[in-house]
Amino acid sequence: MKEDEGRFILRGQTLAFSGNPFEVGAEDAVDFRPDGAVVVEGGCIIAVGPATEIIKQNAGAPVTNYGDALIMAGFIDVHTHYPQVDIIGSSSQGLVDWLQKHTFPCESKFGDKEVAENAAEFFLDQCFLNGVTTASVYCTVHPQSVESFFEAATRRNACMAAGKVCMDSNSAQGLADTAQSAYDQSKALIERWHSEGRNRYAITPRFALTSSAAQLEALGSLWREHPTALMQTHLSETKDEIARVLEQHPTYDSYYQVYESFGLAGEGAIFGHGIHLSDDERRAIAESGAAIAHCPTSNAFMGSGVFDLDATRRAAPEILVSLASDVGAGVSFSMFATMRAAYEAARYYGVVLHPAEAFWMATCAGAKAMRLDDRLGNLAPGMDADLVVLDLKSNPLIARRVARAEDFYDVLFAQIIMADERVVKATYVAGNMVYQRAQAST
Ligand code: GUN
Ligand code: ZN
Repeated sequence: MKEDEGRFILRGQTLAFSGNPFEVGAEDAVDFRPDGAVVVEGGCIIAVGPATEIIKQNAGAPVTNYGDALIMAGFIDVHTHYPQVDIIGSSSQGLVDWLQKHTFPCESKFGDKEVAENAAEFFLDQCFLNGVTTASVYCTVHPQSVESFFEAATRRNACMAAGKVCMDSNSAQGLADTAQSAYDQSKALIERWHSEGRNRYAITPRFALTSSAAQLEALGSLWREHPTALMQTHLSETKDEIARVLEQHPTYDSYYQVYESFGLAGEGAIFGHGIHLSDDERRAIAESGAAIAHCPTSNAFMGSGVFDLDATRRAAPEILVSLASDVGAGVSFSMFATMRAAYEAARYYGVVLHPAEAFWMATCAGAKAMRLDDRLGNLAPGMDADLVVLDLKSNPLIARRVARAEDFYDVLFAQIIMADERVVKATYVAGNMVYQRAQAST
């Protein structure tokens, strides 16, 4: 029987969140079951609970028993660039050098349908084998790059947000649009793709350095006309970038104020990086309801700085910070690599990131940032069945460490620090298995 044709049950350990661990503490936020089950039907989660009870209540439904593997919501990557799969791991002297040397030449090829389709397919496969079921994705300046991405996502019935990158200043030949064409093309793409099936559109000014005031103004208007779309951009990634932005937009006191003044702030806005923000900027972002996408592997690889989660939360306790790969400045699709880098960034400032906090940022917080938390990011009845099954003993070293773990959090922590590419056993999108690791690996 095909899984989307009827009710079925996944049995294993289960992880859900009943609260935000930053607010209520891990113990009150985590709902862990050593022998749990998830009932799936029609692409949705019907029930979650103790395995014996759930199986009795759903007699006749086929059961896949994952044993001591962990079933949880699929990971959500709130900031990533699909065209950059071909330049991942390209060294540079920092952001501007990297953009000019590697990124712009790579992105200039995405007006070509074949190039775009090939990269989109590869990118989505990489997401699934890493257990990432939803992402907020930058395409390139070419509308074709967006078409190809949404077509590939639609073929997989995946819930993805994406947008045409808008850039009319300081960009390379062949990559520049204008205020008007950015508006017109983004609008046409919104009308074609936003909320079509599981697709979501994200209005995407690349960043204030590659957009004129006129372009930011046009995109602010577009967002007001389509308020359910998302808005994604980069903010305060490097100190050099901040200085250049303030030179280019001299009437503003801060980088964030540039976006704010053009109406590019508020709920549904996702700001990538936000490493070098002032406390005033952090508070303004929190008050607006926008989210920061913390991209720690990217920040370390590029030498952009170290995001201070603790200082950010001290300045603005309500601020929403979610996790992101930022592929290809980020060097991994894996949210385990991302969580590990987030842990290391926190340690840089002397702080311990609890594994429950890391997993929450990689799931629930991402869903909230994308305004999808009523459907995604957690295991609960009524939510979409975008799930991941994790092998908690995916290699001999981690199996040995897990055998001596003090508690479930220690097991999660071992995954963050030592998980390798074998950790994801299976990925389900809308109840369909879209990835399964070929061999059991303990
Ligand atoms: N700032 C502007 N464009 C980019 C990009 O493609 N990647 C990263 N990391 N930062 C940017
Ligand atoms: Zn980025």
